[in-house]
Amino acid sequence: MTTGTEVQHRIEELRHQIEYHNYRYYVLSDPQVTDAEYDELFLELRRLEEAHPELVTPDSPTQRVGAGVVTDFAKVVHEVPMLSLSNVFSATELEEWLNRANKFLGSHADYEYTVEPKIDGLSVSLLYENGTLVRGATRGDGIQGDDITPNLKTIKTVPLRLHKVEGEETPRLLEVRGEVYMARTTFEKLNQELAQKGEKLFANPRNSAAGSVRQKDPTATQKRPLNIFIYTLAQKQGGPEIKTQWEALHYFEKLGFRVAPDIVLCKTLEEVEVQVKKWLEKRSGLDFEIDGAVVKINDFATEEKLGYVGRDPRWATAYKFPPLEAVTRLNDIDWHSIRRTGSINPLAVLEPVDIGGITIKSATLFNLDMIEKLGLKIGDLVLVKRAGDVIPNVVKVMEERRTGAEKPFQYPQTCLSCGAPTTRKEDGGGRLYCTNNSYNCPGQMKDWITFFAATMGIEGLGERNAHRFYDEGLLKDYADLYKLTKNELTNLERVGKRLADNLLNQIAASKQNPLRLLLVALGIPQVGVKAAEMLASQFRSLDNLMVAEVETIEDIKGIGKVAAESIVRFFQNEANRAVIEKLRAVGVNMLEPEREGKKTLAGKTFVLTGNLVKYTRNQAEELLKARGATVGSAVSKNTDFLVAGDKAGSKLTKAQQLGITIVSEDELQTLLEAEA
Ligand code: IVH
Repeated sequence: MTTGTEVQHRIEELRHQIEYHNYRYYVLSDPQVTDAEYDELFLELRRLEEAHPELVTPDSPTQRVGAGVVTDFAKVVHEVPMLSLSNVFSATELEEWLNRANKFLGSHADYEYTVEPKIDGLSVSLLYENGTLVRGATRGDGIQGDDITPNLKTIKTVPLRLHKVEGEETPRLLEVRGEVYMARTTFEKLNQELAQKGEKLFANPRNSAAGSVRQKDPTATQKRPLNIFIYTLAQKQGGPEIKTQWEALHYFEKLGFRVAPDIVLCKTLEEVEVQVKKWLEKRSGLDFEIDGAVVKINDFATEEKLGYVGRDPRWATAYKFPPLEAVTRLNDIDWHSIRRTGSINPLAVLEPVDIGGITIKSATLFNLDMIEKLGLKIGDLVLVKRAGDVIPNVVKVMEERRTGAEKPFQYPQTCLSCGAPTTRKEDGGGRLYCTNNSYNCPGQMKDWITFFAATMGIEGLGERNAHRFYDEGLLKDYADLYKLTKNELTNLERVGKRLADNLLNQIAASKQNPLRLLLVALGIPQVGVKAAEMLASQFRSLDNLMVAEVETIEDIKGIGKVAAESIVRFFQNEANRAVIEKLRAVGVNMLEPEREGKKTLAGKTFVLTGNLVKYTRNQAEELLKARGATVGSAVSKNTDFLVAGDKAGSKLTKAQQLGITIVSEDELQTLLEAEA
């Protein structure tokens, strides 16, 4: 018999474990248990709470989605107002900001500054009493906001209870503030789902986070995963003394909050400038959107003295980045871009516009559903956004600015490359396809050649050359790559001897690639890197796979019926078989080498740079990995060897500075061939 106290004990234990694993998973991205183990703990807790409803507390992990639908949010008055930030746009303006602060204090102190990313989301306040989350609120007008506690509880990185810090008392009262945002990847997925359901799309992650956090039904919030970074200590009673922003940020982490990465403490404005530039450079690669960096004077006592002007603190300012959005005109939709699968990718042809320092002339439109959802007409003014390093998106039509002269678009009935009829497939996007086979459609084949070369590590080719060589008649399919001659290449305009040599070396080297790469490069529908690895290690040779039956292929773990059928169909196709024979005739390897060599380089980290001659990048990486080495992309103090080929650049300089062993390609070969 379990007693009431035993149950209560177990419930407490489960809650602790679940929140701990939550934290490992969501905040640290370093889970310690499998999803199944986590689910098991959760299920046990839910069962116990169902059997003992009197033991349910609001800070139980089961209560992250407990509350019902509200008709209206209760109002919350912020005891400490939630203010905004002044802006600066240049180093000079930053200096002026500091001069104003100095003038106000009547002294020229040597401040320290934190430089933080300015997250483009919505600011919220979280209030904890004796370590338990009791209230979460929006900023509202800064004085009064909405109580959105149930919605904020659905965010897995909002701790329901503060972590206990050893040797420190938990504050009786703690109010922190931070920014709720939607990760870019989540946002893109959400918009795709909305497009498929025929619903209106969100213009950007910020809008979708705002929409999500203000849902009246918390389960709706939960379906749109949000995240949070904490950056401000608003109130604290009890607990350790915190004297600076830097200490506060570290304290937040200790309490289990998520804090933005790479925050740096600077001693001079020059250092601040360097950090701001770093954020600007990193901006497009982040999974969260930032619109600037926030510079804060570190010391709280100084902050106190500086106070506020109007609604902006004197002790902090936002160093704003140029916007990554602009409004411009859609002049046309271009239907020329065709993928190897036959899918036709519509491109928006835009009136050229500068976005964040780059002239943008075109944007992707993904598929027909997307165009229809946006309601695009030719001649529309559209909002264009650069997200990441990818081609920009059209996110919105400025409908209120229509003149009536805009024209509906029409998609082509025939493929603009080969003239075959097009067809619209309802494949989760309403994509337009060329119905011709890839060998007879130049558009498809050019993309196939590009894909083959990229997969086989023939980096020197690239899309532009692949298309050009095809148009010049040097290539009819990807097997023709192996017949290219130096003469043919150098006869082309703007192709010099070096370029030709480099390319031919890479092409020759690619013949030795293992089967698993060749299988990906062949572009068999349904066969990606993972499947190719499994097929190669099972069948060992292309010939074995080519004669295999659906049942045999399907038997391999991880390969389903659809993929197995697709593989068999691919090899039944005469044209595919003919190209494979061409590959064989020029000596392309069709076997999978034994991978289990001696792990002579186990524990060593390599970085490759410059042009290699004997190996392609892919091969060098594969061979190193087969020997147990790790291959990194950037040089750091953890790098053991830098393999420097011809024209090695900044990585070489950095490695030299760090005193990392630099090896030539010949030395690499020696290392790879060493027996022990
Ligand atoms: S500190 C007194 N730090 O920017 C105001 N704000 O324009 C203190 N924001 O409403 C704000 N990232 O929503 C601060 N690291 C950061 C921030 C940040 C984003 C937002 C916040 C605020 C707005 C001010």
